[in-house]
Amino acid sequence: MIQASNILDRVLVLEMVRVTEAAAIAASTLIGRGDEKAADAAAVEAMRAALNELPMDGTVVIGEGERDEAPMLFIGEKVGSEQGTGPKIDIALDPLEGTTITAKAGPNALAVLAIAEAGCLLNAPDVYMEKLAIGPGYAPGLVGLDRSATENVTALAKAKGVSPNEIIACVLDRPRHAQVIAELRSIGCGIMLIPDGDVAGVIATTNPDTTVDIYMGSGGAPEGVLAAAALRCVGGQIEGRLLFRNDDERGRAHRWGIEDLDRIYRLEDMAKGDCIFAATGVTDGSLLKGVKRRRDFISTESIVMRASSGTVRRIAGEHRRTHA
Ligand code: FBP
Repeated sequence: MIQASNILDRVLVLEMVRVTEAAAIAASTLIGRGDEKAADAAAVEAMRAALNELPMDGTVVIGEGERDEAPMLFIGEKVGSEQGTGPKIDIALDPLEGTTITAKAGPNALAVLAIAEAGCLLNAPDVYMEKLAIGPGYAPGLVGLDRSATENVTALAKAKGVSPNEIIACVLDRPRHAQVIAELRSIGCGIMLIPDGDVAGVIATTNPDTTVDIYMGSGGAPEGVLAAAALRCVGGQIEGRLLFRNDDERGRAHRWGIEDLDRIYRLEDMAKGDCIFAATGVTDGSLLKGVKRRRDFISTESIVMRASSGTVRRIAGEHRRTHA
């Protein structure tokens, strides 16, 4: 049997882009149409069909939800054309990261996929996660969820050689973040408030052109694992702590085998070993250009990156309209 590491090497790196391209192109027909659900459904269906063509014995570990709430790409769903015989691969996916963004034709919607050898991605329940991320080049543990926003920004500013009022934090624009926003403003820190899309928000910390130094605040736990997979490839640090709003969510955690509900997950706890991260832009954003529907073809921009080699590839696709 072919080893998972070999197939990661030889086949899946570029094949993954086909999968995210398919989801992004499908979702793009619904950009600005005001229908989040339809955009998500189109992306899910296209991603599932493309995944099922890959030569692997894949299992969705981060997906569209639990089996009873998601008809397709639910957690535990088997995908791939070589069930039982192919390499065992764990898959984290978000066919449309930014459903509302897509419905409103806003920036930074992505089709996202991460894969790793079985057991290497955190099986996170679909609850909120408090996140803290910075880009590459800083000492390990420079910032942490066990410290205040002020302490983290101050430490980051010192390491960067600037004052705290030259640091930019990216935060989801939500009422639940009022306190951290007030604290950041009190020390003069700049805040980039984003309407949605914290996978792109976390990855923005790795690209100086975005001006984002640090990501803070809570969003989906599945998005946290996807962002961790990306940082594992491109560098940077992320910590996450699951947030449970009620007993139902705490019960889900127990079903997932999570005993310590206050645990702080570090990057390697969310994505370890070799992993590959791929994304295609749905709408224009800080990471990628969005899908453009031209007269004769549809253009896409994708990124695929691999943890073990550190290779980052950007792929511009032109898809003849008859085939897209
Ligand atoms: P969807 O694509 O599922 O709409 O998620 C968008 C998103 O902004 C994520 O990036 C983020 O993690 C999460 O929603 C935040 O959740 P909420 O909108 O409940 O604050």
